[in-house]
Formats: sequence, C-alpha cells, structure tokens
Amino acid sequence: MAFLIKTETFHNQLTSKVTTMKIGIIGTGPVGGSLTKNLAALGHQVKVTNTRQPAELAQKAKELGASPATLQDVVRDVDLVFIAVPFKVLDEFPKDLFRSLPPEVIVVDTGNYYPFRDEKIDALEQGTPESVLAAEQLGRSIIKAFNNLLAETIASGGTAPGTPGRIALSIAGEDEQAKQVLADLCNDLGFDVVDGGTLADSWRQQPGTPAYCTELTAPELTQALANAVPGKAPQIRDEIISALMQREAWPTRQEVVAGNRAKQQGKM
Ligand SMILES: NC(=O)c1ccc[n+]([C@@H]2O[C@H](COP(=O)([O-])OP(=O)(O)OC[C@H]3O[C@@H](n4cnc5c(N)ncnc54)[C@H](OP(=O)(O)O)[C@@H]3O)[C@@H](O)[C@H]2O)c1
Repeated sequence: MAFLIKTETFHNQLTSKVTTMKIGIIGTGPVGGSLTKNLAALGHQVKVTNTRQPAELAQKAKELGASPATLQDVVRDVDLVFIAVPFKVLDEFPKDLFRSLPPEVIVVDTGNYYPFRDEKIDALEQGTPESVLAAEQLGRSIIKAFNNLLAETIASGGTAPGTPGRIALSIAGEDEQAKQVLADLCNDLGFDVVDGGTLADSWRQQPGTPAYCTELTAPELTQALANAVPGKAPQIRDEIISALMQREAWPTRQEVVAGNRAKQQGKM
C-alpha cells in the first residue's frame, strides 16, 4: 500500500529542491512552535498565530523567528498552512477561513483526536478517519502529516539524509503534487517520508497504531502502516493516555517511544 516518496535531497542535503516558501502556522504550542522554529531556520518566511493578545503573540513569534498574524491573515498570501491545534478547535474556525483559499495552497493537518481533551466526537468514535472529518470541517482538501511524530522529535529528531536510522513520517492525502512538495520540505527538516495513502487511509497513522510516535525508519514505517488493524487503535490510545496520567512525572521522548513500541508488541 505505502511507498517511499522520492526526495531529490535524499542523497545530497546540499541540493534541496525546496525554494523559499511563505508558510502560515496556526498554533505555537510544541508542534506549531517546533515547525515554526525549524522552518524559519531553513530560511522560509513563516507567520504564526495563536489565541494570545497581540503583544504576547508578537513576542512568541519573535522567539520562533516568525512574524505575528491574525487568524484571518495567517492563511493569506502563503504557499502552505500548517494547522497545529487540538482537534476540537477545527470546528470553531470561521467557516470561510479555508474555503476561500486558492486550491494550490497546501493545508497540512498535524492534529490528533484525544477524547479526554477534545470530548467525544461521534463521527470519529464511529470510525471516520480524523483528517477526513477535518477536511469536511475546513471545507477543502488537506494533507495529514507530522501527527505521528512527537513534538520533541520534530524539534530535534531530524538528521541529515542518509543517516542510519533516520526517522520517517508518513504523509496522507489525495493531492500527489502537494504531497511531493511537503515530502521535500520534510526531508529538509530532517526526516524520511513514506506515502501514507489517501486521507481515508490516514487512520493507519492515528494515535494507538503501530505507526504512531514509534520513531521508525522508512521501511519500518511502511510495514507499521500495513500492520495497523482496523478498530484496534482507540483502545490502545486510551490505555496509553491512562498510563501516562498515572505517572508522577511526564516521561521523556525516549520513554514515550519505548512505551509505544512495547505496547504495540503486547509487552505492556
Ligand atoms: N505535542 C505533541 O507531541 C504532538 C505530536 C503530534 C501531534 N500533536 C497534535 O498536534 C496538535 C497540536 O499539538 P500541540 O501539542 O502543539 O498543542 P497545544 O500545546 O495544545 O498548542 C495548541 C496551539 O494552538 C493554539 N490555538 C488553540 N486554539 C486556537 C485558535 N482558535 N486559533 C488560533 N490558535 C489556537 C494555542 O494557542 P495559545 O498558545 O494561545 O494557547 C496553541 O499555541 C494537537 O492536535 C496534538 O494532538 C501533538
């Protein structure tokens, strides 16, 4: 099902094919903040928004190497938008926010659904893949990516192309051209890329699946996506969250990844 997306930069990091892009990022939490910082460091023009008052947003944007923008402006005059907010927030966006964007703007959903945080959403409880509902709510084509890497992995887990054990992420969606552009960007951010299929396939990279935050190489991730069992992930997701809540201290990135891998192998 899944195959490697070809990245021209894979064998030579000095020949990145990604030109400077104009990028809008909604959310400056661990995921949006990490993406902003690393994309700005690569030379992209990044603007960000969050829920804070202008002065606080401006300060945050400056720290991350980006410019501050309102929610309406962060999606305007950009090549690509990353959405990095809790799932339940998508339905609260103004209804015309994404519908009015030119079709060539790439919109990337980095989010996950966690019922303890987002409250139960009937369609998702009944098995609709999260990004299928997200696309419906936003009223346009989207790509799902970065949801199955921990924010800390996004921040500091990237390595040069060809590094043994290089971590891979999967990209799901219908627009092959948009997926290729994003694959090249991911490569520049330090990650190999695996095609996760269509949005309808994206349940294979949701929380609780073998592909979720287990830090796999491209061949391992391809196998993990294929190994996902329909309907199994929500229970595993909830058991992992329940175990995390009982801990006194939040685990390290290494502990989370080791725990996720052990859970998939039935060792927890
Ligand atoms: N954390 C991870 O390791 C991880 C990894 C992969 C995927 N994810 C998923 O990615 C998404 C983001 O994760 P996160 O950990 O970065 O989340 P987070 O810590 O909750 O941060 C969310 C960000 O979204 C902003 N926000 C919330 N509502 C908004 C609105 N209406 N308009 C504009 N901005 C809004 C928040 O603004 P304020 O700063 O003003 O509060 C905050 O900056 C979630 O769906 C999460 O499940 C998380």
